[in-house]
Amino acid sequence: MKDTIPVGIDALAFSGPAAYVDLADLATARGVDPAKFTKGLGQHRMAIASPCEDTVTMAVEAGARAIEAFGIDPAEIGTLIVGTETGVDHSKPVAVYVHDLLGLNERCRTFETKHACYGAMAGLTSSMDWIASGRARGRKALVIASDIANYGLGTPGEPTQGAGAVAMVVSEQPRLLEIQPASIGDYTRQVMDFWRPLYSKYALADGQYSIQCYLDALASAREDAVGARPDLLGGLQACLYHVPFVKMAFKAHQRELEMELGQAISKDEAEPWQRLQDSYARRCAPWLTLNAEIGNIYTGSLFLSLIDLLRKAGGQLAGERISLFSYGSGCGATYCLATIAAQAGEWQGRIDPAAELEARRRLSIEEYENMVRAGEQADRQQNLAPADFGLSGGLYYTGTRDDRRHYERI
Ligand code: HMG
Repeated sequence: MKDTIPVGIDALAFSGPAAYVDLADLATARGVDPAKFTKGLGQHRMAIASPCEDTVTMAVEAGARAIEAFGIDPAEIGTLIVGTETGVDHSKPVAVYVHDLLGLNERCRTFETKHACYGAMAGLTSSMDWIASGRARGRKALVIASDIANYGLGTPGEPTQGAGAVAMVVSEQPRLLEIQPASIGDYTRQVMDFWRPLYSKYALADGQYSIQCYLDALASAREDAVGARPDLLGGLQACLYHVPFVKMAFKAHQRELEMELGQAISKDEAEPWQRLQDSYARRCAPWLTLNAEIGNIYTGSLFLSLIDLLRKAGGQLAGERISLFSYGSGCGATYCLATIAAQAGEWQGRIDPAAELEARRRLSIEEYENMVRAGEQADRQQNLAPADFGLSGGLYYTGTRDDRRHYERI
């Protein structure tokens, strides 16, 4: 099928918390071999949000960066969608705070999407449909993924936490990535693999089952997208996945290769195992550095991997085809094909969050645990001082007074 309108990602930016936990420190504190976290899960650090850094503040910072770095006029934004599973209110969407704090045009369609980690992909494809339908009338969409992954102290999910936001501007003639609408495949199934009851700040997960659900969703969404293609990977320069932890991308890539070979791959069979290692080393591993440094940012995890690819190889891979797979527990998934835009290389430096990551503060495990406990009370605190968490020079949540959340630029 021929795609008529080139639609896709025109601008990208990341923003995350100012502090992190080193997983070797966490492993020591929990009495676990550090190799389980670093090699077994593939994670090195996880970003930790203080009570003053929430879904709104991270989304605004990421959105402002995307708009500014790519020279976009905020008046051109006609749709704003925030994908999140870390809402700040049962009714009011994060997106409307973000709309205000970014100073966007009032003539803008604004809403929040929730489907675990799938919310931003839902926003991205909806905004593509909005453009393709002609309703955008030349305007652009701003889609922001913003989340804080909290599993609770001492849980199996604890080393797979993280926090951060990725903002994407979606438009015709995109400067970074063209997404082929006819290649989009979807999947939905009611499963209890991961969820967060209304009474809980912490996610609950049936961890091993969630991995199976993810892999089943990948297989079905891929088949819906491209059918039973035994030769797809050969034409792809990169395969990007939702990354709850880096090892999950390896498992996902293994499943895709198994589908193409029509056989299970195990370490005992040298040839297919080596083929998997080579394909993973070329198509996946180079683009997982940010995920290993930041952790699971839920809705933004797939797009963090995209930022990693574009900041390292946007120019070199211009014109090349890649795949993207988004998974949200519960569950929903999308698999699609995309082409790196011809001018992507010109923007490599603008999307690189290396300096922000370099400036982060390493928390001791005691500081981290205190931060988590303070976070439990944050929604009820009247006055929060960013300086108490070592924060300055940004937009922060400073407490809930008169039942209203307050945000201040310090
Ligand atoms: P676990 O069960 O404690 O870990 O927690 P494990 O025993 O499975 O070990 C993990 C890996 O480390 C294994 O590797 C071990 O062999 C290895 P594998 O066999 O899988 O290749 N290992 C070691 N390696 C080296 N040296 C050692 C060592 N010891 C063990 N000494 C689990 C793992 C992922 C289940 C847990 O962290 C968890 O529950 N995480 C949260 C759920 C999750 O991330 N699920 C992923 C799929 S669902 C999804 O992606 C959606 C999600 O993002 C939410 C959303 O949609 O909103 C989560």
